[in-house]
Amino acid sequence: MANILDGKATAAAVRDELKERVDRLREAGTVPRLVVLLVGEDPASQVYVRNKGKAARKIGIDGETLELPATISQTELEARVRELGDDPSVHGILVQLPLPKGLDEERVVRCIPPSKDVDGLHPVNVGDLARGTPAFAPCTPAGCVELLVRHGVEIAGRHVVIVGRSNLVGRPLASLLLLKGARGDASTTVCHSRSRNLADIVRQGDIVVAAVGRPNTITADMVRPGAVVVDVGINRIDDPSAKGGSRLVGDVDYDAVADVASWITPVPGGVGPMTIAMLLANTVQAAEAHAGSALVRS
Ligand SMILES: NC(=O)c1ccc[n+]([C@@H]2O[C@H](COP(=O)([O-])OP(=O)(O)OC[C@H]3O[C@@H](n4cnc5c(N)ncnc54)[C@H](OP(=O)(O)O)[C@@H]3O)[C@@H](O)[C@H]2O)c1
Repeated sequence: MANILDGKATAAAVRDELKERVDRLREAGTVPRLVVLLVGEDPASQVYVRNKGKAARKIGIDGETLELPATISQTELEARVRELGDDPSVHGILVQLPLPKGLDEERVVRCIPPSKDVDGLHPVNVGDLARGTPAFAPCTPAGCVELLVRHGVEIAGRHVVIVGRSNLVGRPLASLLLLKGARGDASTTVCHSRSRNLADIVRQGDIVVAAVGRPNTITADMVRPGAVVVDVGINRIDDPSAKGGSRLVGDVDYDAVADVASWITPVPGGVGPMTIAMLLANTVQAAEAHAGSALVRS
């Protein structure tokens, strides 16, 4: 039976460390401030944004949500983001995606100054990461790496197979794992819906990361015995026996894969809490940079 890559406990440890850095910033007169823009009333986004604000405030970050109507125009939304960009009391800006239909996400993200882009999605930050000199890494991929490192799972020299090539998860994760150093130095393969012989490729992975958004994409026969499995997927499935008639599952056939893997992330309680912890880490880093303190990243 696989060991658990415990995202909940690891995120709590990260938050404790960050709280010390926030305390130091506050003592020196800087209150780290994160503003999350929530456009429209998507229920899943509302939950994510609430959790981000709560986690921020818990460690002393001024975590605010700016709620905007789904009817907002592109021009008005871009103006609001630029205003926050110009406000020196704001250190981190996050636009909760997806935006309602009719709004161009790419153009909105480009309005965030790269130095406040704590989600790591601005093309400047994406480019810096791809070139091997990251400032802010996107939170979910950074959370995957942090989770592995803190459980002592070796990354350097190993073959990581990532299933999913989104700009949010798969691509930036490959870039992170290719960085030089102990947190990187992996050989990476990125698969997607057009990959042929997916099972054969996944079976070659020492570490397998699933970021697809489809339950049971990774089954036990696809996983090499002893491999490490990180499940990024979050899918809601019907389950009459569960409270509310549904429950969350990942992309991995958890019970069967846990029998062959050496390490595995649960869903929920794996990558999800790490994503929020990394958002807080990026915000603290932005506030430290603003305050002129040394950028110390553990
Ligand atoms: N835990 C967290 O904090 C967190 C954060 C972000 C996302 N997520 C979850 O992670 C999952 C992925 O998110 P995302 O934003 O990366 O999704 P996405 O943008 O929809 O990308 C999904 C990727 O999976 C690939 N794919 C789809 N079906 C496939 C198949 N049958 N075989 C192989 N590859 C397949 C797609 O290939 P193509 O490119 O060819 O279409 C695409 O590259 C979702 O469940 C999302 O909710 C979790």
